[in-house]
Amino acid sequence: MTIIASLLRAAELPDSPTARLDVELLLAAAIGKSRSYLHTWPERIVSSEAALTFAGYLQRRRSGEPVAYILGQQGFWNLDLEVAPHTLIPRPDTELLVETAMALLPVTPVRVLDLGTGTGAIALALASERPQWQVTAVDRVLEAVALAERNRQRLQLDNVQVLSSHWFDSLQGERYELIISNPPYIAADDPHLVAGDVRFEPSSALVAGADGLDDLRAIIRQAPAHLQPGGWLLLEHGYDQAAAVRELLAQHDFEQIESRVDYGGHERISLGRLSC
Ligand SMILES: C[S@@+](CC[C@H](N)C(=O)[O-])C[C@H]1O[C@@H](n2cnc3c(N)ncnc32)[C@H](O)[C@@H]1O
Repeated sequence: MTIIASLLRAAELPDSPTARLDVELLLAAAIGKSRSYLHTWPERIVSSEAALTFAGYLQRRRSGEPVAYILGQQGFWNLDLEVAPHTLIPRPDTELLVETAMALLPVTPVRVLDLGTGTGAIALALASERPQWQVTAVDRVLEAVALAERNRQRLQLDNVQVLSSHWFDSLQGERYELIISNPPYIAADDPHLVAGDVRFEPSSALVAGADGLDDLRAIIRQAPAHLQPGGWLLLEHGYDQAAAVRELLAQHDFEQIESRVDYGGHERISLGRLSC
C-alpha cells in the first residue's frame, strides 16, 4: 500500500532542473488529480496501477524525455494544448509574439497568417483573444497540421483554418494584415540540439541551415507578396539573430523595423511593416 506523500518523497530526478515540479506533475497525472490535490491529501492511498504508471513516467523523465511529451499536453497563453513529438513544445517566450501581435492590429476583422504553427499555439492564442480575426495556420509537417487541427477543434475556435503548406506554397494570391512566425532558427551544429529536453524535439521544428537563418530568410523574402499594404511581419528568432533579421527586413523594403526584448532582456522578436 503506497500513499501520495511517500511516493513524492521517494521520487528522484537528479538531472532535471525542475525536479520537484516534474515529480508533482507526473504523479498528479498518474492518479488523475490536480497538483494541489497532492498537497491537500498526502495520506491518500494510490492504486497499484497508478503507482506503476507513475514509475513508468519517472523512468521516461530520467531518460530526458520532456514532461510535456510524457503527459501529451502543455499550457500556452490561457490554453491547454495537446503536444506530440512531431513538433515543438510551445515555450513561454513565444507569448511575447502573441502580446505584440495583439498590440499591433485593431480589434476589427483582419486576416492573420501563422507560419509553422506546430501545435497551433500562436494561431489559437490569437484566435481566442480576437474572435474578430480570421487566422490561417500552416505547417509543412502533416502530423503537426493534424495536431493543430485537433487543438483547434477541442478549443472550438472556428476563426482558425489549419492547412498543410511549405511556407507560402499553398497560399498563392492570399494576402494578410499580419504574418507571424516562430520558425526553426537554430544552426545545424549548435550544441544545444543534443542537450537537455531539446534533443527529444524534431529537427524539422528547430534547425534552419548552417547559420540558423535559412527559414527566416525564406519567410522575409516571400512575405511582401502576401501582405496587404501597411501589413506587418512579426518574427521570433534566436537571441543573437536580431541584427541579421533587421538587416533582412530592410533589404526587402520593410519599414518601422524594430526588435523587442524578452523577459530575460534578449532581443528575441523583430518586426517590420510593408509600406502603404
Ligand atoms: C519552432 S517550431 C514553432 C511551432 C509553434 N509555432 C510554436 O511557436 O510553438 C517551427 C514549426 O515550423 C514548421 N516548419 C518548418 N519548416 C517549415 C516550412 N518550410 N513550412 C511550414 N512549416 C514549417 C515545423 O514543422 C514546426 O512546427
